[in-house]
Amino acid sequence: MQLDFEHGFTLGFSPIDGLCTEAASSKRHLSNMKGMFASEEDYAKALRAGDPVVYEFYELDAPPQAGDLAFGTSIVYPGKIGDEYYMTKGHFHTILDTGEVYYGLSGHGLMLCENPEGDWHAFEITPGKAVYVPPRYAHRSINTGPAPLVTFFVFRADAGHDYGTIESLGMRHLAVEKQGKPTMIDNPQWK
Ligand code: NI
Repeated sequence: MQLDFEHGFTLGFSPIDGLCTEAASSKRHLSNMKGMFASEEDYAKALRAGDPVVYEFYELDAPPQAGDLAFGTSIVYPGKIGDEYYMTKGHFHTILDTGEVYYGLSGHGLMLCENPEGDWHAFEITPGKAVYVPPRYAHRSINTGPAPLVTFFVFRADAGHDYGTIESLGMRHLAVEKQGKPTMIDNPQWK
């Protein structure tokens, strides 16, 4: 379906599972997440057992112009690699000075935000809660619960995604399960 960004349109997203029947999502399988989790050994072990979808998201091909808005849902499935929770790759915006809003629809998780200088926050996401990711902060959604973490997001359509910085450096902190509870720890692999 062609979405008419010039004249406007409506589009349905399920508030339960985030799925949209009228658009295509981008899927990230475990095999697309090489190097993202702290334990290479646990990652290799998990991959030998299968290649599940870790997360998927809709962006709707919004025209990359300053006046347009890209939006959609992001769905992070439940799971762990070792004791580290399933998460998105995380990214800076290519235009670093652009923020983003995420709104929790279902599930339970964290939005990990970090700027280039190392200031960071892990905001809790629950249904009904909005998270404001300020300009200049990389952001990653982490599913700390037993059900899919579903959020709705909106950002400036020309912001772009810089995945490479986090792919090569990592983020400074990790969310792991300790004694049954999500805990933030320093990332031993951070460069
Ligand atoms: Ni973003």
